[in-house]
This record gives sequence, structure tokens and C-alpha cells, in this order.
Amino acid sequence: MIVVFLGPPGAGKGTQAAFIVEKYGIPQLSTGDMLRGAVAAGTPVGKKVKAIIDSGELVSDEIVAAIVEERIEAEDCAPGFLLDGFPRTVAQAEMLDAMLEKKERQVDIVVELRVDQEALVDRLRNRIREAEERGDPVREDDNEETFKKRLGVYGEQTAPLIPYYEKQSKLKGVDGMGGIEAVSAEIAARLDEIKR
Ligand code: C5P
Ligand code: MG
Repeated sequence: MIVVFLGPPGAGKGTQAAFIVEKYGIPQLSTGDMLRGAVAAGTPVGKKVKAIIDSGELVSDEIVAAIVEERIEAEDCAPGFLLDGFPRTVAQAEMLDAMLEKKERQVDIVVELRVDQEALVDRLRNRIREAEERGDPVREDDNEETFKKRLGVYGEQTAPLIPYYEKQSKLKGVDGMGGIEAVSAEIAARLDEIKR
């Protein structure tokens, strides 16, 4: 089962991904985590993308698509995988469709986590506070100014994926405003509907 998670920053994609990995035994492919890993490791890609990530803009379609294309070759992706944070543009969605088609695979379902705009900034503030309480470093792009930039980028560049996947009859909207477990239950219900 190939699942795409769609939703603005702070919608809970990463949180819900952990539950899906556990319940369905498919890996989470978080392109944001992969990019941050490349930055931390100081790879050539990492050096190229650091300033872009810190500004809240998007890394080029070619770079992220190449990362995903390589990652899905791994054996753990054979039963399926969950894409968290990719695609982020219609061009990336088209690249994804093309790379999956070559393998005679396809996206099975796109879960859109719907959360009120005002709730997102509150969630960001919680995320920062929790990281600080744990003594973890706060992400460079998790400050209010960059976060608002990321919300704008989502609306302009990523939200067009909603009609893109609606047209493919793959989009399932899930109310992301409830508690973590309530949202998990709704996602599981949507996934079980399509799972053979
Ligand atoms: O997905 P996540 O919120 O972790 O992504 C953090 C940042 O990484 C984004 O704001 C963006 O700068 C970059 N990114 C990207 N393209 C992706 C995933 C992440 O440009 N597919
Ligand atoms: Mg994330």
C-alpha cells in the first residue's frame, strides 16, 4: 500500500505516520527528515539545501524526487510506504506517478489532514515548548516567522495537489482537529477501506 500524507506544517503528519508504520508495517519516508539528515551530515545535497530549508522555501523538484526515487528502491519499501512531506508540488506528483508507473505501482491513497489555520500556529508553539522541555534542539525553521512562510508556501504550491488527487479519486480528507487517537482511528478507517 502506497500512502501519501498531505497537510500543512503542523497538521500532525509526522505524529500520525508513527502510528501507521506500527499498524501497517510500512516505512515512513519523511523527505523533510531526509533533507535535515543530509544537512546534518554535511553532504553535497545538504550543503545545497540548508539555506532553502531555513528560509521555509521548497527544495527543487529534481532534488527531492531523486531522493525519493532512490529511497523507494530499498527492500523495506516492497510492501509499500508512507510518503510524509512529498510530493509538495504538482510537478513532484507527476514525477512520482511516472517513477511508480515504471515499476507498475501507483499511489493507492492520499490522506489529507485538515486542520484550522489558527490551530497550526498554536501547535507550533507547543512543539517548540515540548522540544525545549525535553532539552532537544528546536528546528531552525520552527520559528513563527518561518512557519508562516511555510504555511504560505503550502497554500500556493502544495494545496493544488488536492484537486490533482481528487481527479484521480484518491483523496480522502480526515479531520485533523481531534485528539491524536481519534485522528489515527479515522485514518485507519480510510486505509482499511482500500486495503485488500
Ligand atoms: O516536511 P517537513 O515539514 O519536515 O519539511 C521541512 C522543510 O524541508 C520544508 O519547509 C522545505 O524547506 C523542505 N522540504 C522540501 N521538500 C520536501 C520536503 C521538505 O523542500 N519534499
Ligand atoms: Mg514532518
